Amino acid sequence: MNNSNPPFFLAPMEGVSDLPFRILARECGADFTISEFTSSTALTRGSVKSWTKVSTHPLEDPFIPQIFGGDINEMVKATELLCDNRSVEIIDINFGCPAPKVCRNDAGAALLGKPDKLVKMVEACIDVSDVPISAKLRLGTGIGDDTAIEISERLEEIGVFRLCVHGRTLKQGYRGEADWSKISKIVDAVSIPVIANGDVVDAKSASACLSQTGAAGVMIGRGAIGNPQVFYQIKQEMGLINGKAPWIKDNDEWVDSDEIKRDFMARSWCWNRYVELTKLTETENKNALKRHAISFTKHLPGGSKFRGSLQEVKEINQLSKNVSDWLKNGANK
Ligand SMILES: Cc1cc2nc3c(=O)[nH]c(=O)nc-3n(C[C@H](O)[C@H](O)[C@H](O)COP(=O)(O)O)c2cc1C
Repeated sequence: MNNSNPPFFLAPMEGVSDLPFRILARECGADFTISEFTSSTALTRGSVKSWTKVSTHPLEDPFIPQIFGGDINEMVKATELLCDNRSVEIIDINFGCPAPKVCRNDAGAALLGKPDKLVKMVEACIDVSDVPISAKLRLGTGIGDDTAIEISERLEEIGVFRLCVHGRTLKQGYRGEADWSKISKIVDAVSIPVIANGDVVDAKSASACLSQTGAAGVMIGRGAIGNPQVFYQIKQEMGLINGKAPWIKDNDEWVDSDEIKRDFMARSWCWNRYVELTKLTETENKNALKRHAISFTKHLPGGSKFRGSLQEVKEINQLSKNVSDWLKNGANK
């Protein structure tokens, strides 16, 4: 597939892709975002924590919750419950999670070793769903032959709308390099859009991944943690976006400043906006804020020392302000 305007996805990431971060990533140039994976068992039991993970806000468009599970009836029930929310545009099903606590229950990437059950599960969800169903896969379990091509062909046949493939096996976890050549075989095998995922961090890797896989689009995970501006930067370098980045808008003098200052500036804008979005979406949460604070200050000069100072901060508004002041100072040095 040759697409001159490929969509860029923020990867679903537990503990990262919360609602305000998803909205922020869209404002930074991501075309699609997907929620953190959410247990169908927990959703069917009415867990408030899990329902919060798949909550949305009018600022989020489109809203794509991701679910996982090992029990087909629970997956069907969770699909029905999600469809009651008219904001849901697509439901994504996770067959990529390598965590033992997930795989032990025959869920996530473990199902790549049981193609019949996987396909039956997705078919049952499609049967009750009012919205399209997409799936996120790895290449296989890493034991025996890879199953992703067979599974992708069968998922296309039963009506899956789009696939995302992370170019590693379950056994690999996050080790080694993502194998884009295997993603390209899946792209060739099906006619539905395939989004390539794994090790895309900048314009160079995004262009290489798109040309080597022929995928319809690219998904970025770790490269966007604490760094949602990566979407804008990639699109700008690839000539896919015009206009000024939100953090440059009224600050033209920043265009010519050095790279470190620009990084501080971009992160400063993104952090302030993240905090603002937690308030707008009423999802303020100290643990999430702390995790993002750590990520937003990574790889910046003095960041490690500053992160140490955050340990003593108990109050959520103080934490936000300290990060905000530190990033602003770095930009103005
Ligand atoms: C902290 C973290 C949490 C993740 N949580 C999820 C998840 O909830 N659902 C999912 O499908 N993948 C999850 N993943 C996998 C990513 O979506 C992605 O497939 C993987 O990180 C490879 O892409 P990357 O090389 O761009 O990071 C997670 C990855 C990380 C690092």
